[in-house]
Amino acid sequence: MRREEAVSALKNRFLERFGPFKEGDLLFSMAPGRVNLIGEHTDYNGGFVLPLTIPRAAYLLVRQRGDRRVSLWSENFSEGVEWNLDDPPRKEGRRWFHYPLGVVEALRGRFPLGGFEGVVTGDVPLASGLSSSAALEVAFVGAVKGLFSLPLDPLEEIDAALRAEREYVGVQCGIMDQFVSRLGRSGEALFLDCRNAEYRAVPWRPEGISLLVVDTGAQRELAASAYNTRREECEEGVSFFQRHDSSIKSLRELSWELFQRYGGGLPEGVASRVRHVLEENRRVREAVNALERGDFQALGELFTASHRSLRDLYLVSSPELDRVVASSLEAGALGARLTGAGFGGCAIALFRESDLERGKMAIQRDFEESFHRLPLFLELRENFGSQVARV
Ligand code: GLA
Repeated sequence: MRREEAVSALKNRFLERFGPFKEGDLLFSMAPGRVNLIGEHTDYNGGFVLPLTIPRAAYLLVRQRGDRRVSLWSENFSEGVEWNLDDPPRKEGRRWFHYPLGVVEALRGRFPLGGFEGVVTGDVPLASGLSSSAALEVAFVGAVKGLFSLPLDPLEEIDAALRAEREYVGVQCGIMDQFVSRLGRSGEALFLDCRNAEYRAVPWRPEGISLLVVDTGAQRELAASAYNTRREECEEGVSFFQRHDSSIKSLRELSWELFQRYGGGLPEGVASRVRHVLEENRRVREAVNALERGDFQALGELFTASHRSLRDLYLVSSPELDRVVASSLEAGALGARLTGAGFGGCAIALFRESDLERGKMAIQRDFEESFHRLPLFLELRENFGSQVARV
């Protein structure tokens, strides 16, 4: 969806749900989803990631109200919700409005907020591992900040979005998704050091190369609990090595030498998780170098090595993701891997443009043969960043 298209569709719906508005009354906020080029399950271990926004986003149009009510309408769910700021609804199950509710709750304790109303839509595929939830959270933080002129810098905005996810939605996620949704920009990937939130842009202008996103459509129901288990396993690794070196606060401080020397004392599963994190951090740095020299062959090889590690050491792949990766490589991809948390969701494959169509056909054919349905494709030709504006 283009920005203009989203604004005009949202204005029509706003008028219908909330009545006439004056020029300048409405605040538009949008924030994109993401794919992660490389650096998986490293963010909550104080490691490196290299995500890229995608041209799919959450879009909102909001207006301040004179009372203390929040009233929202979701286009995607054809459903409205309304609550009083001082008496928020109890959290039961997982619903779309838990994201805005989580954002409002994260900010309400620190700042005086008033009521507001608005409509929300989005075209990031839901529950596919493309961070539709981070997009929604970041867009809402931008909207609430704009409506009530909150003195938040971008890092504080990211923090509010994260608190919505962790405290309201219950996934103990790392900082990557909210970070890139807020700070990622067109034509750039974001190289982020999750230990100290230092970041820098890395140019993303692949010439003659296509990044294909393949949505396996596989359910990710186990994702939240399995994700939290992986985190605990990593924490177990940290406590173990702390006994040998008390300066280790996260796996980021663990050296390869120390791992080699004492790693044999860890339960096998935990040792594999730790090894993945150490090697994946090294791959991210190599990927940044490869991108800076425009070496997509090397980038592709790093993708594939990352996938193998996620499959065999971190155990977060799925038969669908493995199939897409294998088909891509057989069809001549420079590299392919799962992206995001795993357990279903999306894979990414790097193709020379001349091989792309053949690649898509091969992926589709093999996938249908194995799973009797079709995957969805998204070609990443351009990307964009978040935005807030009066309209
Ligand atoms: C999810 C989380 C991120 C990150 C990835 C795995 O997307 O939200 O914080 O941990 O999984 O790399």
